[in-house]
Amino acid sequence: MRGAGPHVYDSAGKRYLDALSGLFVVQVGHGRTELAEAAAKQAAELAYFPLWSYAHPTAIELADRLADLTPGDLNRVFFTTGGSEAVESAWKLARSYFKQTGKPMKTKAISRAIAYHGTSMGALSITGLPVLKQEFEPLVPSTTRVPKTNYYRRPPGSGDTREEFGIWAADRIAEAIEFEGPDTVACVFLEPVQNAGGCFPPPPGYFPAGPRDLRRVRRAAGIRRSDLRVRPARRVLRCGPLRLPARHHHLRQGHDLRVRPARRDDRH
Ligand SMILES: Cc1ncc(COP(=O)(O)O)c(C=O)c1O
Repeated sequence: MRGAGPHVYDSAGKRYLDALSGLFVVQVGHGRTELAEAAAKQAAELAYFPLWSYAHPTAIELADRLADLTPGDLNRVFFTTGGSEAVESAWKLARSYFKQTGKPMKTKAISRAIAYHGTSMGALSITGLPVLKQEFEPLVPSTTRVPKTNYYRRPPGSGDTREEFGIWAADRIAEAIEFEGPDTVACVFLEPVQNAGGCFPPPPGYFPAGPRDLRRVRRAAGIRRSDLRVRPARRVLRCGPLRLPARHHHLRQGHDLRVRPARRDDRH
């Protein structure tokens, strides 16, 4: 089998359109020799070196680019080996944050129905696809599901327009937080575009600024934005071993990189 651009070829040479981009990860297409060359160059230079207490130029450069691409003042990057571990880490960081800020009961995670979040125990626990989970129950307790943003299959009473539906869906999150108890919820997991069961972009009023938007839900409940977005760091990037302030001693055990605050004039 091989791939070229947007196509893959089976063992008999038959061509298919790779409409899913592998599993949503080959957006730039197959057969990109410049990417293969960059990987080969890096492997020849430094095969692997842990970011556990250390840093190296390539990781620093990547963290810097990610900080530039992410919105606002998000300038801290925690590398993981894949999506499940990323989800797992985000939930753990949220729990750790609340433990260290005097709210140890804030541990629960809210996520959407049908949303896929991964295979590890934590990520599977917040995945909204019961059929994928039943073999492995019981999973991590204290997770709750809220409705997905599939406008076409919206339930009766959830609004006639996309705007009304977006606000209805955001309100279900607020309702779930209230029901669970704001002092017990650590985070809400929301993919910008949900990709299980279809491709669901957020309806208007769901994510963007507005009187009843998710930012307000988050503020009201005192919960944190998840999906790998963690509190902005004040310190700038250092090469060599990372020195974290005492209040971040829990992160010494991980492999996070802080980078300088992104400036508007040097965004790509
Ligand atoms: C939205 C989302 N989150 C998490 C995952 C899990 O990622 P991984 O398969 O790299 O563990 C996936 C995988 O498809 C995903 O689509």
